[in-house]
Amino acid sequence: MKNKDHITILGIESSCDETAAAVLQCNRDRFEILSNIVSSQINIHRPYGGVIPELAARNHLENILPVINQALSEAKIAPNKIDEIAVTTGPGLISSLLVGAQTAKTLAYSWNKPIVSINHLKAHIYANWLESQPIAFPAICLVVSGGHTELVLMKNKNSFKKIGQTLDDAAGEAFDKVAQLLNIGYPGGPIISKLAESGNPAAFDFPRPMIKSNNFNFSFSGLKTAVLYTRKKLPKINKKIIADICASFQQAATEVLVVKTIRAGQKYRVKTIMLAGGVAANKELRNQLIKKTTEKLPKVKIKIPAIKYCTDNAVMIAAAGYFCKKTPWEKIKVDPSLSL
Ligand code: KG4
Ligand code: ZN
Repeated sequence: MKNKDHITILGIESSCDETAAAVLQCNRDRFEILSNIVSSQINIHRPYGGVIPELAARNHLENILPVINQALSEAKIAPNKIDEIAVTTGPGLISSLLVGAQTAKTLAYSWNKPIVSINHLKAHIYANWLESQPIAFPAICLVVSGGHTELVLMKNKNSFKKIGQTLDDAAGEAFDKVAQLLNIGYPGGPIISKLAESGNPAAFDFPRPMIKSNNFNFSFSGLKTAVLYTRKKLPKINKKIIADICASFQQAATEVLVVKTIRAGQKYRVKTIMLAGGVAANKELRNQLIKKTTEKLPKVKIKIPAIKYCTDNAVMIAAAGYFCKKTPWEKIKVDPSLSL
């Protein structure tokens, strides 16, 4: 058995609509990314305005072995040099998760390698370790993805305490639904953030739901409805108005996320604030979090993964594999509603 301080991990991710595999070399918390392959199904799901689970699973099935082969060949590594296989087992779409988990179990059995069952949300958080340096604890991480919006308090790198979450839509879901009601395409997050660049964030005074509430929960469905009513009331719509709506919506959503994250940082006297998940790719959110942390908590360090490691990928799954315990392959089970 190899010392876990120096191992090479194959990561496999298929929880939603990206089939991904990556090879990560781990040397005592210093990571070297040998390959990072992501095969996106966005073009397949775009005509439906959202992910169709059946289509996603079928495409994972077609793509998973070529993607794994590509990850191994780009890393210039043979299967016998892989020390561990890390695979996402939840949360996510059950049929999509099954493809990755079954593939990982089959490879683990036939290559005789250990397997690590990975919680996708923890993996998003562990993306913050990719560019290394030790992280000072306690830390708060804002996890914002298509299915989740959570504030997580960490006392060390293996302790995750949820201190707040969305009561309805996730932040990414709100971006996607707003883009759908404005008829500007799918997925909404990157499109809204692009259009917002030429818009006025103060053009529309959208609500900041729960910004003053005495807890760390969020709510985005009222904000989405406010955008819908504003859109309906406008007699004419043009590119400029769309850009203004996008910028104003993005401003309202980011303000709530940032204010509550900073407040949690103050309450728990954290040493680090982290950001994770697909919405962490949003430039405005990244910039506002850095700006407000510097203003309000100047001693607190801020960690944000590179944009390509915020959205779904297998490098973060492999990184999580380094920190999590092995599971006997026959005990690996998928759980679509797995929580932190
Ligand atoms: O983490 P992720 O890739 O998948 C899930 O685990 O859900 O997150 C996907 C979500 C989608 O809702 C997408 O619209 C959003 O992340 N997203 C963004 C941006 N890029 C992706 N939201 C806002 N701004 C972005 N630049
Ligand atoms: Zn994700």
